[in-house]
Amino acid sequence: FNGTGRVGSPACGDEMVMWVQIDPKTERIIDCRWRTFGCGSAIASTSVLTEMLIEKGGMEINDAIKLRPQDILAHLGGLPDRKVHCSVLGD
Ligand code: FES
Repeated sequence: FNGTGRVGSPACGDEMVMWVQIDPKTERIIDCRWRTFGCGSAIASTSVLTEMLIEKGGMEINDAIKLRPQDILAHLGGLPDRKVHCSVLGD
């Protein structure tokens, strides 16, 4: 993997680490893995995000950085209002 991100804090209960493999020639994300201490909503939304990133040969990194939690929620089919913040971890 040639890209890594970490967000949150284990001290307050929500943390996520994500690794991406980007093809340097095409600048597409060809693989994405992650671990989280987040809740089931965070796991579901990040799982959907991963599929969005790697489907159809991989999303270009310039398109991926424009993704917002609303995009993830649309693919997931929504979350209860009090769980929307969980989708921000992957974003
Ligand atoms: Fe903290 Fe969902 S990630 S409540």
